[in-house]
Amino acid sequence: MATSRAANIVEKVGGDRGQATTAQDVSNPEKDPQQFADPSGEMMKALVWMGKNDVAIAQVPKPKIIEDSDVIVKVTGSTICGSDLHLYHGTILELQKGDILGHEFCGVVESIGPSVTKYKPGDRVVASFQIACGECTYCKQKLSSQCERTNDSKLQNALLGARTAGFFGYSHFTGGFAGGQSEFVRVPYAEVNLLSLPDNVPDEKGLYLSDVLATSWHCVVDTGVNKGDVVAIWGAGPIGQMCAEISFMHGASRVIVIDGGPAAWRLDFIKRRLPKVETIDFSQLGTGDGGGRESITSTLKKMVNNGYGPDVALECAAGEYAKGWAHYFEILLGAETDTSEMLNEMITSVRSFGRCGVTGVYSGFTNHFNIGALMNRGIRLIGNGQAPVHKYWEHLLSMIQTGELDPLHMVTHRFRLEDMDGVYRLFDARREGVQKVFIQTRFSKPPSQGSPPLSEVE
Ligand SMILES: NC(=O)c1ccc[n+]([C@@H]2O[C@H](COP(=O)([O-])OP(=O)(O)OC[C@H]3O[C@@H](n4cnc5c(N)ncnc54)[C@H](O)[C@@H]3O)[C@@H](O)[C@H]2O)c1
Ligand SMILES: [Zn+2]
Ligand SMILES: [Zn+2]
Repeated sequence: MATSRAANIVEKVGGDRGQATTAQDVSNPEKDPQQFADPSGEMMKALVWMGKNDVAIAQVPKPKIIEDSDVIVKVTGSTICGSDLHLYHGTILELQKGDILGHEFCGVVESIGPSVTKYKPGDRVVASFQIACGECTYCKQKLSSQCERTNDSKLQNALLGARTAGFFGYSHFTGGFAGGQSEFVRVPYAEVNLLSLPDNVPDEKGLYLSDVLATSWHCVVDTGVNKGDVVAIWGAGPIGQMCAEISFMHGASRVIVIDGGPAAWRLDFIKRRLPKVETIDFSQLGTGDGGGRESITSTLKKMVNNGYGPDVALECAAGEYAKGWAHYFEILLGAETDTSEMLNEMITSVRSFGRCGVTGVYSGFTNHFNIGALMNRGIRLIGNGQAPVHKYWEHLLSMIQTGELDPLHMVTHRFRLEDMDGVYRLFDARREGVQKVFIQTRFSKPPSQGSPPLSEVE
């Protein structure tokens, strides 16, 4: 929180905004109703960030079209993501009270800006979590998450060396855009950032093209899973689960998923859906020969190729989840932002010249990183980046249509938008049985065939 507030001040003092070609800091229409709210005065429900571990459902003004290429989407489906937990925990910089969250949503086009010809009111669409212009150097290569024109954050530029694209519902660090855990969303550059959903793809499947499917696919192909590879995955959440499925699709001979603590049930959950997966519960590791606890690395080495270890390691957890006290306190004291525990486990576990991909979110700096192992054994450490959804989403949509890819494998619950604050609590606690959820609004159709029925949040 303190960091977040300080960052907001730096941003204001810096005054280096103005590079973006779309309005910034439009994270809630009530900030400037004259400029951002629908003139009808119509209100809508939205999930807003109130402070660390505090979100609430609020009545806020419905957004209006403010740029020619905008579309207003009436939301019929959204969800919560591991990335939202980083906002909830306050680890992402530059959040402001009242910001509307949510970067994964689908819906129906409600109204269009004057330059929009590709879509008309009534069309069913899904949005990418990133907002891309479609024309800059990165966008031309479909590397949409790195669009140069939709995020002005000076702080991000200073900390990361360049800016990512703007993201829906993901703090002022990524442009300050209102998100999709709401009844209506304004989508800038709508022809670029929306994808049509055909009639044979229900919301309960199409929604996940926003992020998790493209992110998992990207994690696997960007890190490089080849035929016969043994793949180890840190994190059994929705991203880890889909990475396991997609690794097999790319020819992996074995996939080993690691998780533990309150989320240990997720290992059995994934195994029920994908029986050939192997699992390690880090909280149940036995005592090693030397009398100390067995480590992830020693366990993986024993399991794979007589001590060589996996070919590929995929990080699908996040840098904020410290396991040991040392990193826990270093993060708490601000001596680092992220733990290096999982990165070190990955680097020491894989075979020499093995590959490690990082898709879980890391926000800044880490201590005690095992650079020696990386250098001496030729380990390839690959930051997968915020995933460029536009590069993959058409292909993934066609895989959903043919049935090769079924997002419902990870979807366990359907909840109401009105109960979204409670959903944050459940998802954060890794409540048993809650893997990926579908959030309905008053505009949603009844659950499609094979998708979970509506549940109450306990
Ligand atoms: N790069 C991208 O574009 C992108 C997109 C979406 C999500 N993400 C990130 O991917 C990560 C996973 O997303 P998700 O929705 O599956 O999140 P999630 O929070 O539901 O799952 C993360 C899992 O990691 C586990 N974990 C924590 N510490 C661990 C450890 N030391 N070893 C093994 N497992 C551990 C947790 O118990 C949890 O089950 C998150 O960090 C999310 O922000 C990145
Ligand atoms: Zn997400
Ligand atoms: Zn661009």
